[in-house]
Amino acid sequence: MQGSSRQPKIAVAGSINMDLVLRCSQFPKPGTTIVAQSYDEISGGKGANQAVSAAKAGAQVSMLGRVGDDAFGGRLAGGLNKHGVDCSHVLATPNCESGLAMIMLDPTGQNSIIFVEGANGQFTPEDAGQMRDVIQSSDAVLLQLEIPLETVLEVIQIATSANVRVILDPAPVPEGLPEELLKVDLICPNEHEAEQITGIAVDSHEQALAAAESLYKKGAKHVAITLGSRGTFLFDHNGGRLIPAFETKVVDTTAAGDAFAGALAVYWTQHDDLDEAVRFGNAAGAIAASRMGAQPSMGTRSEIEGLWKSIK
Ligand code: RIB
Repeated sequence: MQGSSRQPKIAVAGSINMDLVLRCSQFPKPGTTIVAQSYDEISGGKGANQAVSAAKAGAQVSMLGRVGDDAFGGRLAGGLNKHGVDCSHVLATPNCESGLAMIMLDPTGQNSIIFVEGANGQFTPEDAGQMRDVIQSSDAVLLQLEIPLETVLEVIQIATSANVRVILDPAPVPEGLPEELLKVDLICPNEHEAEQITGIAVDSHEQALAAAESLYKKGAKHVAITLGSRGTFLFDHNGGRLIPAFETKVVDTTAAGDAFAGALAVYWTQHDDLDEAVRFGNAAGAIAASRMGAQPSMGTRSEIEGLWKSIK
C-alpha cells in the first residue's frame, strides 16, 4: 500500500503499563524524602502509547501484548479500546500483575521513570507466533524493548519474512543488546539510547552523524535519532540531515517519543516519504510534550496536521 493514503494497518507489539505519576518540585536526592504535589494513575507503556498515537493519527491499529489479571489490566485494555485500538491480541495473564511505571515529574516537564515489567515479561515468542497473521497482514510493525528480547526478535523475524516494515524504538536499552535487533527498516532511539548503543555521545551535529552512521552500519536501513527540542537527526542512504523540532511549551515529556514513533509510522506507510514522516512525527511529539500524561497527551490527526502545516 506504500505511496497511497488509505488507512494503514499497524501492529504494535509491546508493553502496556499503568503509570503512577508523582508531580514533585524536584527529584529526591538519595536518602531524602520529599512531598509530591499530586498523584495520578494514567494509562501508559511504550507499546500501548505508540498504539494510541498511531490510532489517533489515522491508522487501524492492533495491540499485541499482555496485561495482568489485576484491576489495572481491565482498565488498560478498556482505555486502548476507547482510543480505537483493537485489543483482541492483548492476553490476560493469570496470577500476574500488569506492568507498572513509577514516574516522577519535575516542574520543567522532565521525568524520571522506574518500570516494573509485570505481565509484559510473560509475552513469549510463542505468543507472538500465535499472532503471526495479524503481524503479516499489517503494513508496519512497531516495537520497543519493554517486552522480552526473544519476543521482539520473533516478531521481527515474522514481519520481515512477509516484507512487513519494522520500526524499532530501542527503549529501554538493555545490557548486551543483541545486534540482530538493529537490522530493521527504521530504528528511532533518543540521544541517550543512541549513545548507550553506539558509545558515541550525541552532543553535536558531527556526533549525531557518527552515531547514526554507526547504527546504519550495524544493519538499520534508516536511523532517526530524536534530539528533544533540537528535532530529529535522520540518516539513510541519502546521508544525514536534521529535521528541526516544532516549538512547544513543555508540560510533560513523558511519551513524546512514543507519539513521534506512532505518528511517523502512519505517515511513512501512507506516503513513503520518510523526511516528511519525521516532520509529522516531530509535530506529534511536540503536541504530546505540551500535555500531561502518556496516552491522554496524544494529538489527533487534525491537531498534528494543524501544527505540521503551520511551518512548511
Ligand atoms: O515512554 C513513556 C512510557 O515509558 C511510560 O508511559 C511508561 O509506562 C514507560 O514505559
